[in-house]
Amino acid sequence: MVTITEDISMGKEKVKVPVVNELDGSRPTEFGYTPVCISGPNVSVPFNSPFYPGCGCQQALCTKDKCSCIQSYGPSYNEEGCLQIFNQPTEFSQPVFECNSHCPCSRSCQNRVVQNGQHLQLQVFKTYCKGWGLRTLENIKECTFVCEYAGELISIKEAKKRAQELTDETGNYLIVLREHSSNDDQILRTHVDARFHGGASRFINHSCNPNLIMVPVRVDSIVPHLALFAARNIDSGEELSFDYSGEFDYWHSHETNDEHHELKALQDQRKDRKSCQCGAVNCREYLPFDSSLYSSESHQAISPVNG
Ligand SMILES: C[S@@+](CC[C@H](N)C(=O)[O-])C[C@H]1O[C@@H](n2cnc3c(N)ncnc32)[C@H](O)[C@@H]1O
Ligand SMILES: [Zn+2]
Ligand SMILES: [Zn+2]
Ligand SMILES: [Zn+2]
Repeated sequence: MVTITEDISMGKEKVKVPVVNELDGSRPTEFGYTPVCISGPNVSVPFNSPFYPGCGCQQALCTKDKCSCIQSYGPSYNEEGCLQIFNQPTEFSQPVFECNSHCPCSRSCQNRVVQNGQHLQLQVFKTYCKGWGLRTLENIKECTFVCEYAGELISIKEAKKRAQELTDETGNYLIVLREHSSNDDQILRTHVDARFHGGASRFINHSCNPNLIMVPVRVDSIVPHLALFAARNIDSGEELSFDYSGEFDYWHSHETNDEHHELKALQDQRKDRKSCQCGAVNCREYLPFDSSLYSSESHQAISPVNG
């Protein structure tokens, strides 16, 4: 096994992220490492302006019986930092709110998890037929936070432009997270592109039967973190994966019939879709892609990112 680099994060993560290649002499293409999202072109993101008040907890560690953050929005995590809403799939549209910079509690408060960053031993490796991938070097318990999908936060317009520019050679690192608001018909779409700037998570491949799930988590901004949690217990050595389409079927049920048919037609027209090599018994054959990025209509989509 050839170690290409001891730490692709170059000290930017708490735990080193090595890159190994057991198959050939290739190296990952260059990109700028960032552990958290950064602003893309012409985008100004209010990263550090808490948009909801913090709690007034006097202790370093918030408790669910006293903390107004936990009472208003949670409890999202148990004492071990594991996501609580996990076994209720319908709740996935409910964003998680962590304690923020207005809160006097310490960094080890149970309501601060994603903001504390990646803490597991992960490794980038060359796969047989999906390019590079990311695996864990330790066992991971179900519901544990693994890492955030970090990259450039871009506007809908920029996401459409980048989607059109993709070729067979350029992998697709653009993830669209959709959140449906319960009080109106709008869909909040957050676009993160990890092609030019990203974290270790940019190496995570798609699976139709994934071991991670993406959950929007908010801390100091209306813009959510795209947080990846273990969907089940994961063994040391296993490749990490998530479903690139997210809860696509779930979201689809919120789209109007016309929109649904138009997007379906666009999807079917595209003969250049990449075949999925996930190997799952329930494999859907093709990698998911967001057909709305190829449509001229913006429908009811809004983005927390301007530009
Ligand atoms: C976010 S990147 C993942 C890391 C990528 N494998 C690399 O080498 O940098 C997404 C790209 O990986 C490849 N990929 C991811 N999941 C795949 C799968 N299940 N089957 C085939 N290719 C996959 C596709 O080329 C896709 O555009
Ligand atoms: Zn509190
Ligand atoms: Zn708080
Ligand atoms: Zn598949």
